[in-house]
Amino acid sequence: MTELPIDVRNRELRTADQFGIKETYQSDLEGVLIPRAEIEDCVAQLGSEISAEYHSNPDFYPICVLKGAIRFFVDLLREVDLGVPYSEGVVHSSRYHAGPTTDTPTVQFFHEEQIEGKDVLLVEDILDEGYTLATLRDRIEEFDPSSIRIVTLFDKTVNREVAVDSAFTGFTVPDEFFIGYGLDYDEQYRDLRHLGVLDPEIFRG
Ligand code: HPA
Ligand code: MG
Repeated sequence: MTELPIDVRNRELRTADQFGIKETYQSDLEGVLIPRAEIEDCVAQLGSEISAEYHSNPDFYPICVLKGAIRFFVDLLREVDLGVPYSEGVVHSSRYHAGPTTDTPTVQFFHEEQIEGKDVLLVEDILDEGYTLATLRDRIEEFDPSSIRIVTLFDKTVNREVAVDSAFTGFTVPDEFFIGYGLDYDEQYRDLRHLGVLDPEIFRG
């Protein structure tokens, strides 16, 4: 097994035509940074690390940060086996609400009364500036969990503005704007199966 996180900050992009990507998406991509097979292997490895860490713990409580982490959450938990049953939660958070991006994300909990005493694992697609996860961590703390940790598939470390640490990280990524595997640009492209870099022409547009 490779050591996680996998550092892809200096990796060359591959051209999008090698991956059977829909024609409409190919022209919107600068290139592919991480093909889906490599994402899948990494998710499996994160799943086995989490299984080892929380083994036999029925208070394990993974929380999916909607919407971006849906795909990662489902794929990750398919790879988690604790030997005991456990429950799951979701939270919706967005930094893009009614106008320009703000530092304070909106947060909507569902069944927050279930958090007390749990060993919460926040499951996030990408850790970037850190505002979303710092806010979520502080808000969840108010519900008295036993512990809170973070797993993020992608970590854009160079962009960090507030201190947040993830216990489990898949890939360290460069400062680009990514789409795919749940990541969106203006709510689109989440269904792209690879991690791609958006064409800057579109990003600016
Ligand atoms: N792409 C999409 N959503 C994001 C990103 C990104 O690179 N960083 C933080 N949210
Ligand atoms: Mg988003």
